[in-house]
Amino acid sequence: MNFEETGHKPVLLKEVMNAIKPKENEIYFDATFGNGGYTSKLLEASNCNVIAIDQDPSVQSRAKEFEKRYGERFKFFKEKFSGIQNVMEKIQKKEINSFIFDIGVSSMQLDNLNRGFSFQKEGPLDMRMNLSGKTAAELIANVKEDDLANIIYYYGDENNSRKIARRIVEYRKRSKITTTTELANIIKNCFPSKYYKKHPATKTFQAIRIYLNNEIEELCDGLNNAARYLSRGGKICIVSFHSIEDRLIKKFFQFGGDNRDLNKNFLIKYRNKVVKPSSREIQINPRSRSAKLRFATRNQNKFTSVKLSELGFEQA
Ligand SMILES: C[S@@+](CC[C@H](N)C(=O)[O-])C[C@H]1O[C@@H](n2cnc3c(N)ncnc32)[C@H](O)[C@@H]1O
Repeated sequence: MNFEETGHKPVLLKEVMNAIKPKENEIYFDATFGNGGYTSKLLEASNCNVIAIDQDPSVQSRAKEFEKRYGERFKFFKEKFSGIQNVMEKIQKKEINSFIFDIGVSSMQLDNLNRGFSFQKEGPLDMRMNLSGKTAAELIANVKEDDLANIIYYYGDENNSRKIARRIVEYRKRSKITTTTELANIIKNCFPSKYYKKHPATKTFQAIRIYLNNEIEELCDGLNNAARYLSRGGKICIVSFHSIEDRLIKKFFQFGGDNRDLNKNFLIKYRNKVVKPSSREIQINPRSRSAKLRFATRNQNKFTSVKLSELGFEQA
């Protein structure tokens, strides 16, 4: 089997590898295994080791194929960013040479209509990355109008959040909202068609997904855990797709990279270093168009956890 050509196309793969420069015997942590695109490139590029996690149980069969192919050099755990400490305890390691995060939804999640991430085709309104907990349909059925508007505004950067929340609440009084297309059409009907280029449900779907999967808190925990376990000189490489995530990553790197309190500096950051996909990559893989890669290197200093509030973020 060709490990690189099935399923999800890894974004900014060459650029991530250029940042990491994999070396023999080093240990890398792929925090968003997905289809294993980054992991396989690392393992093929050098005789290194990869520890991979993903919170989605559906990637476990893919991980099994990797275990067969790469043996002891590869280990997978179904875990979240917030549980990286558990993995470090299980593998009995204190340090990792570099961490990679490729946050967001995979093509497998987006294209499987039963997962409810896409508004393009009909599917149950689910959107749970780890397949447990509250579904998007349950959230939509019970959330207060004001809270829903705040979620859509805060996590979706959607200026029409109040109007959208009002329409959803009016609709649910008459009929239960259970499918992706039902929700997408309610949002679409809030706007005259000449006013939008992207589907008007794009930002609301993004917001509900980020809220439901606790993605901002998870991202902050992931960055903290990476900084905690990185070896001196090791890199955090992180690819993100939405402005709210990129803002958090940028603030975290700023906090750790040029804090006025020098005792709090734990990173060497690359000033304004954002890597974007080439026009050729966007042509081959249109889903890459909003991707941004940032990376930073761990310095010698002691690390203490950074809170979301220190980065100017709060919960909705
Ligand atoms: C964009 S995909 C990664 C694709 C992968 N780089 C590849 O090349 O195949 C993102 C993956 O991260 C996982 N994920 C997102 N948030 C997570 C979290 N907080 N903890 C663990 N996994 C997470 C998702 O389930 C998804 O499989």
